[in-house]
Amino acid sequence: MAANFDMIKRVYDNFENKVDKARKVVGRPLTYAEKVLYAHLAEEPTREFVRGKDFVDFYPDRVAMQDATAQMAMLQFMHAGRKTSAVPATAHADHLIVAQNGSKEDLEKAIEENREVYDFLESVCKKYGVGFWKPGAGIIHQVILENYAFPGGMMIGSDSHTPNAGGLGMIAIGVGGADVVDVMAGMPWELKWPKLIGVKLTGKLSGWTAPKDVILKLAGLLTVKGGTGAIIEYFGEGADSISCTGKATICNMGAEVGATTSVFPFDVKMANYLRKTDRADVAELAEKLAHQLKADDDVYANPKKYFDQLIEINLNELEPHINGPFTPDLAHPLSKMKEAVKENDYPDNISVALIGSCTNSSYEDIDRAANIAKQALAKGLKAKSQFTITPGSEQVRATIERDGQLQVLTELGGKVLANACGPCIGMWKRMDIKTGERNTIINSFNRNFAKRNDNNPETLSFVASPEIVTALAIAGRLSFNPETDTLKNEKGEEVKLDPPYGDELPLKGFVKDNKGYLEPTPDGFNTEVKIDPNSERLQFLERFEPWDGNDFVDLPLLLKAKGKCTTDHISPAGQWLRYRGHLDNISKNMFLGAVNAFTGKTGEAKNLFTGEYKPVHEVAREYKAKRLGWVVVGDENYGEGSSREHAAMEPRYLGGKAIIAKSFARIHETNLKKQGMLPLTFADPSDYDKIREDDRISIVGLKELSPEKPVKMIVKHKDGSQDEIMLNHSLSAGQIEWFKAGSALNLIAEKNK
Ligand code: F3S
Repeated sequence: MAANFDMIKRVYDNFENKVDKARKVVGRPLTYAEKVLYAHLAEEPTREFVRGKDFVDFYPDRVAMQDATAQMAMLQFMHAGRKTSAVPATAHADHLIVAQNGSKEDLEKAIEENREVYDFLESVCKKYGVGFWKPGAGIIHQVILENYAFPGGMMIGSDSHTPNAGGLGMIAIGVGGADVVDVMAGMPWELKWPKLIGVKLTGKLSGWTAPKDVILKLAGLLTVKGGTGAIIEYFGEGADSISCTGKATICNMGAEVGATTSVFPFDVKMANYLRKTDRADVAELAEKLAHQLKADDDVYANPKKYFDQLIEINLNELEPHINGPFTPDLAHPLSKMKEAVKENDYPDNISVALIGSCTNSSYEDIDRAANIAKQALAKGLKAKSQFTITPGSEQVRATIERDGQLQVLTELGGKVLANACGPCIGMWKRMDIKTGERNTIINSFNRNFAKRNDNNPETLSFVASPEIVTALAIAGRLSFNPETDTLKNEKGEEVKLDPPYGDELPLKGFVKDNKGYLEPTPDGFNTEVKIDPNSERLQFLERFEPWDGNDFVDLPLLLKAKGKCTTDHISPAGQWLRYRGHLDNISKNMFLGAVNAFTGKTGEAKNLFTGEYKPVHEVAREYKAKRLGWVVVGDENYGEGSSREHAAMEPRYLGGKAIIAKSFARIHETNLKKQGMLPLTFADPSDYDKIREDDRISIVGLKELSPEKPVKMIVKHKDGSQDEIMLNHSLSAGQIEWFKAGSALNLIAEKNK
C-alpha cells in the first residue's frame, strides 16, 4: 500500500500548480470535477475544452478490475508488450461466487469451481505487477473505497459502478476492459470532456430517509439517460451532512442515470473515513490541499453560471423511495407505493429481501439495518420474507461480526452471503421459486433490469435503501410503509417500527483483514501464466484483422433490436460469467436477451439465405463461415448498463462490422470503437423504421471516414427498392486509427514493439 501513498503524494504535489494553470487558461472559477480533470490531463491545456464535444486525453492514477472483466483485460494486456502495469492496478475476485447456501459453503464451492480462473488471475497479476484480492476478500468498489480511493484522484475501473469512489472525492469512471489495458500499457486514456450537472443538497437527512434516497429520487428526475455524458457534482450543506460511505452509495448509482461519474468535494466526513480506514497520512495531505479539493469560491454560490444543469434536492423534504421494477428510474415515493402496487398489480408478497452489495454495505448501512432488526426482535417480530445480507468486504464483515450486527440480523431470519456480488449480478441459485414464476424481490443493490438478479424475467426487482429493505422484509409486503403502518407481532399486538439509527463508523475501528490480498512482488515477472489448451473458460486471444480498406457492401442485417438493448441483453451475465475468459464460448450468448423487432421474440434472428430462425449467434457464425460481415440495428441508448466489453468483442469476433442505433450509451460506444467496430447513429432517428427484415446494407465512403463527417448507408430491400440513409458517428481521428488497425490493442502493440 506504500506505493499508493507515494502516488497520492505525487498527485497532490502537482495538483495546485496544474489547477492554477488551467484556471488561467479557462479564465473563470472551476468546479471541483473540472479541477480533478484538469489535474490529470495528458497535456497542458491551451484552451477551455468544449463540454460534450472535445475528446481529451488523461493519465488516470490507478485502475481496478473485477474478476469477470479482469480475465479478458489481462488476456488483452498480455498482448500490449509491457513487463508491468504502468499505474498501480488491482484485480478483485468478487463476481464469480454463486449465492445459494450462505457465505462459507458458497465461497468454498466457488474456489473449487473457479480454480483455473483464480489461478490464472493470480499468476497473471503477479507476472504483471497487479495487486490481487482473492475470492472472499470483498467487492471491488468497497475494497477500493477502503484502501485506494482518495480525494482529487482519478481512476478508471472495468466495472460500471466504479464511480462509487466519488464518495471519497475521486473522479472514478467505469470503462471497458480495453480502456484498462490502455492505461496499464501507459497510453493516455481518452474521454469526451463531460458536461456538468450540479446537484445542490439542502437540509439534512432524517427519519427513514437514507443517502440511497437521494439517488433514487434523482434517478426518477433524470431517467436512465439523463446523466449521459455528464459528471454529477454534489454540493451544499446537505452534502456535508452525509457520511462518506453514504456519498459513495449516491455516486455508485449515478451509473443508473448514465452519468460518466459522480463526485463530492472533499470534506470532514471523508477525512474521518480515511482515518478510520488506516489512512491518516492521506487525510493529512488532503486537509493541506482542502482549499483545492472543492470548487472555487463563486461556483457553489452561483451554480447556474457553471453547471449545464442544476438540480436542487431538499433533504428535509426527501421521502424514502422504492424504485422499479425492471428499471431503476421508476421512482415511487414510499407514501405512494401502496397505490402503485394496486394500480400495477405488482405481487405484494415479497419473496426475498436482500441488503448489502457494493452499493450499500457500509458499516452505517448495516448498523441502521441491524437497529431495525433489534427493534423488531424486541417487539416480537421476525422477517416474513427470506432475508439475505451481503457484506461488501471482509473488513466490514469482520467488524459487524465483532460489533454484533450480524448476529441480530441473523436472529431476525437473515442469511449471510459471501463478501461478493452474488444476487446483484445474477449469481444466485434460487431454490424458492421456479424460473417463469412471477414474484417480487426488494434489494439495496443498484440495478434491476429484467433477469438481472436471478435470471427470471418474471421477477419484479425493486431497489431501496437497506433500511427500507429490512423493514419490508419484516412486513413481507411491498405495500408496507414503516413511516405510517403497524405490524402484528407474535402475540397479536399492533406494533410500529421507529426510524432507524446507526453509527457512521465503528467506534472501535475496523477489524483490519488483508489476508485476502496478494501484493505485487519485484520478482513477479518470472511467473508463468498457464492456460490449459482444453479449458472451456480461458483462451489466449488472437488479434482481430485490420480493416481491408474497402467499403462494407451488401452486408446482411443480422438483427434489428427493439426497445431496451443493454449490455445484459447483448451479452447476458448469470451462467455466462463462466466464459468471460473464453471469447469463442461466451459468444454463444450473443444477443440472447435482445428483442427481434420483426418477430417480437428474444434472442433469435433469421438467416437471410435459408429463411430459418435460430439463436442470433448461430446465424452470425453462418455468415462468418461465408466470410460475410453483418450489421445490427438498435434503438435508443443502445448498450446501456454495465461496462462489459464482451458485448462489443463478441459481435466483432463473430464478424460484425457496424452497429447502427438511434443513440448509444457512452461506455459501450467506446468499447465498440476499441474493438474495431463502427458505432453509427441515424441522423434522423425515424429512419430506424425503414429497416426491414431481409435488408442488405452497404456503408460507403469509408476511405474518407473522418471526425464529424456523416457516413452514407444504402439499404437494399427485398422488393428491389432501396433507401439512402445518413448516419452520424463520434469517432475522433485517433479512434478512426483503431478502426483501421482492427482494434485499439493492435495499435498499442504496434507502438510498444
Ligand atoms: Fe457490481 Fe453489484 Fe458487484 S453492482 S460490483 S455486481 S455487488
